[in-house]
Parts: sequence; structure tokens; C-alpha cells
Amino acid sequence: MLRWPHPRKRLRSEEAPLAGSEKAAFGDVHIFLVERKMGRSRRSFLTQLARSKGFVVEDVLSDAVTHVVSEDGEASSLWAWLKDHSRSDLSRMHVLDISWFTDSMKEKRPVAVETKHLIQDVLPEVSTPTSAAAVSQYACQRRTTTENHNKNLTDAFEVLAENYEFNGMEGQCLAFRRAASVLKSLSWEVRSSERVHELPCLGETMEELVEEILQYGRSFEVNKILSDERYQTLKLFTSVFGVGLKTAEKWYRRGLRTFPDVLEEPSIHLNRMQQSGFLHYGDISRAVSKAEAQALGSIIDEAVHAITPDGTLTLTGGFRRGKDFGHDVDFIVTTPERGQEERLLTSIIQHLKQQGILLFSDYQSSSFDMSKLPSHRFEAMDHFAKCFLILRLEGREVEGGLCRAEGDSRDWRAVRVDLVSPPPDRFAFTLLGWTGSRQFERDLRRFARLERRMLLDNHALFDKTKKEFLAATTEKDIFAHLGLEYIEPWQRNA
Ligand code: CTP
Ligand code: MN
Ligand code: MN
Repeated sequence: MLRWPHPRKRLRSEEAPLAGSEKAAFGDVHIFLVERKMGRSRRSFLTQLARSKGFVVEDVLSDAVTHVVSEDGEASSLWAWLKDHSRSDLSRMHVLDISWFTDSMKEKRPVAVETKHLIQDVLPEVSTPTSAAAVSQYACQRRTTTENHNKNLTDAFEVLAENYEFNGMEGQCLAFRRAASVLKSLSWEVRSSERVHELPCLGETMEELVEEILQYGRSFEVNKILSDERYQTLKLFTSVFGVGLKTAEKWYRRGLRTFPDVLEEPSIHLNRMQQSGFLHYGDISRAVSKAEAQALGSIIDEAVHAITPDGTLTLTGGFRRGKDFGHDVDFIVTTPERGQEERLLTSIIQHLKQQGILLFSDYQSSSFDMSKLPSHRFEAMDHFAKCFLILRLEGREVEGGLCRAEGDSRDWRAVRVDLVSPPPDRFAFTLLGWTGSRQFERDLRRFARLERRMLLDNHALFDKTKKEFLAATTEKDIFAHLGLEYIEPWQRNA
């Protein structure tokens, strides 16, 4: 079975909440039904209906209200009414149309708020669903789609972050990545640095940087970095598959600046991964399209099926977050038989090889051991069996054809593919961990540690207070354990 995300229609396993976990979330939801357009009798009927199902319905629009529900289709008049009739902070409430309410009645629990439920304020000064002051410092409490309204700013912040990384200044690097992520989450374009003042994770220097970019359209410091030889060289070298920062620095220190410099240097011995990285550089440094990702999904799914009928292939990584392009395609493969996940992965590699489409494979066997958990090591890689592949993708397999470089007449291209194979009971943690984005994952773990005294990684969730592991079969279970509102994959582009 190939699990390819479909808008609206979600996976079965994703829909079953953990018994018990929903109870607490329930009490936190306080509904207010807007009488306008709904009418008094319908409002009282819906109030009784909701209360009979255990929902809390407030009679007045007070600070206690978390979910405002209206049948008024006209957003502007509704918002005007709300502002007139409430002294509470509306930015802290969800303003929702009746579909959220009816969905919740059907499910007998408050369903997660999705964009389709929101009635957004259309007035220009408050066209933001959340005011700057209400933005959380944690990416896992923000909804970040692929639509970035502040690309000019986030691009600059990311150059600075990368430069700090190249210079070994981890703290600064993280600070700029965090700030870029906050800016990415905004549903509005920053037009004055004053608005930035209210945002979390953006200090005074960053505010000045924003001001400079808004005023001059560029940043002096960023431009300086972009034309810096060391930055350019490290960026070039680390763009090769298999070349990390350490290797890139070593080559730079030896005076090497270009690929020919590296390839013609007799004392340099490239490892297998780097050799493939250089060999397929043109192909794998070019973005992979959604259609190409889909084609690879079918090819690998076929391989899984040739091996076991019970195998499951699940798309993860950037494409699961709804990105149109990626640097690779990431999949999780599982089999319900415990202990068979390694064999499944090695058999898939074998199958791809027999088909003649395996250009490179780096297989890492599992070192997963539940008894060695929880891991306190921050940002540790997971221990599941996995492989980093380069596959040959034929043009005829791809709907609409290949993403080809100009002047390239070949009917195939090389593509990077990652496969990971966790034991079946670890699936939800793996899916959450591999869906990313990296910043979203970082903040999930930071939130768990600092706000909940819990340890989260790709293997498990450990409650330090209760000293026990918390079970999960879906991502929703994990969000519920953490006391977080569920964030859809396409809202995790932090
Ligand atoms: N990941 C991980 N362990 C690994 C490799 C990756 O947990 N050994 C996670 C990363 O943290 C990331 C996700 O898997 O959140 C996907 O990684 P990657 O393919 O590098 O990034 P994408 O978000 O998919 O971006 P792109 O579209 O450029 O591939
Ligand atoms: Mn990826
Ligand atoms: Mn990957």
C-alpha cells in the first residue's frame, strides 16, 4: 500500500485519537456561538446539542472563550460585530465557521482547527489571524505553510545563519534560524520594523537588520558574506553529496577553491559517497519535482510489493509538507512483522539493483535498542535501519516529463532518495521526526523538554515526571501527549 497524502482525505491511522488523551483537550475548549444570522432558537438548540456531548459552551463572549463559531458568511460584518461586542483579546480565539462545529459534533470531540474552518478578518490593519504579540516562540505552536510573505528577510537571515555555522558559532546560527522561522510563519508581510519589535526571537540587532532591508532593499553585511571567498567555497563544497562542513573546511585550508581543484589533487581520496556526489552532481543538485517524487513512489512501492504484500510505503520529508520541489525524496517503509524491517530494506535495495536503477546505495543497519532509551543526546540521529540512495529515473515514468537542465537531451536523471525502516510500533515517532522541517523538529523537542519535562526524538516520547514512555500510534497522539494543538504536515514548513 502506498500512502500518498491526499488533501482532506487523511490516513485512517491518523484519525483514531488515543483513548484518554482527548478528555483533557476537551475541557480546554470553550465554545461561543454567535447568535447573529444563526437566530436565537437555533443557537439554543446547538448549545444543548453540544452540551449533551460534553462540550463547554459559554453564554457570553468572555476571556474564557477559545472557539467562536458563526454562521455569518460575511467575514467583515462578523469581525466588526465581534470587535464591538468583545473586550477580550480576539487574536487568542479561533473564529470559525459552522463546519468546525458540525465536524466536532459528528466526531464527538473538538476536531483540530484547519484553515478551511477559519473566518479570517479582512480589515487591513488586522488582516493577521494572530497579532505579532501572539506569535509563539516555538515553531510547533505556529502554522507555517510553504507560502512565505517575507522571503526577502528570511533569505538574508538564512545567509547569516549559514555563515555563523561555517564559523562555528552555533548559538548565533540557531538564533538566526529561529528568527527566520518566526518570520516565515507570518501570514502578513513585515513593512515596518516596529511590528518586528513585538515578535519573539528577534532581538535588537535583528530589528536593525530588518530595518536596513526594508529601507534599502538589501543588507550590507549579507552582501559582504555573499561575495566572501570562504563562504562561497564552503557553500560550493558542502553542496556535494557526502561532503560535510569538516571536509569542506579542510579542502579550503589547503587552498582548493573549485571542483577541478579537488578532483585534480592527487593526495585527496574521495570516499564512495563523495565519488557518486561528484559523478551525479548536475542531476542531484537540481531540484526534484512533485511529479518525479510521485514516480519514484510508484517504483519503490512496486519493489516493496514484490517483496512482501504487507509492506507499506509512506511519503515523508518536504514533499509530505506539500513542497513542490525538494533536494531528495524521503520514504518510510514498514512491515507489520516485528524484526523484519531490516530484511525489507535490504531486499528493496536488491530489487532496485536488479532493475538496473540503483546508482548508489549507502545502507546503515539498525542500532535501535529500546533499552538504551531515552536518549539525552540533543539532536541525535535516529538508530533505525536506513539507506541513502541515488536512483536512475526514466523520463517515461514521470507525468509531464523530467526536470531537465537546459540543453540536456538525456531521457533520464539521477535522484536522491532516503528510506528509513522503523519497527512497526515506532512508526508515529519516525513519521513525525522525518516529516520535518528541521526547525519544526528542533522546536518540538525544545518545547517537550522545557515546557513539559519530556524527551522526544524519532524513537519515542519519555515523560521525565512520570518516568515512563508514552505510547503513540499516530502523530496526533504525540501532539496530544505534548498538550499541543495538532499541526498538519503542510503547516510544518517552519
Ligand atoms: N531526518 C532525520 N534523520 C536523518 C535524516 C533526516 O531525522 N538521518 C529528518 C530531518 O530532520 C528532516 C527530515 O528528516 O526533518 C527530512 O530531511 P531532508 O530530506 O534533509 O529535508 P526535507 O525537509 O525533506 O527538505 P528537502 O525537500 O530539501 O529534501
Ligand atoms: Mn527531503
Ligand atoms: Mn532526506
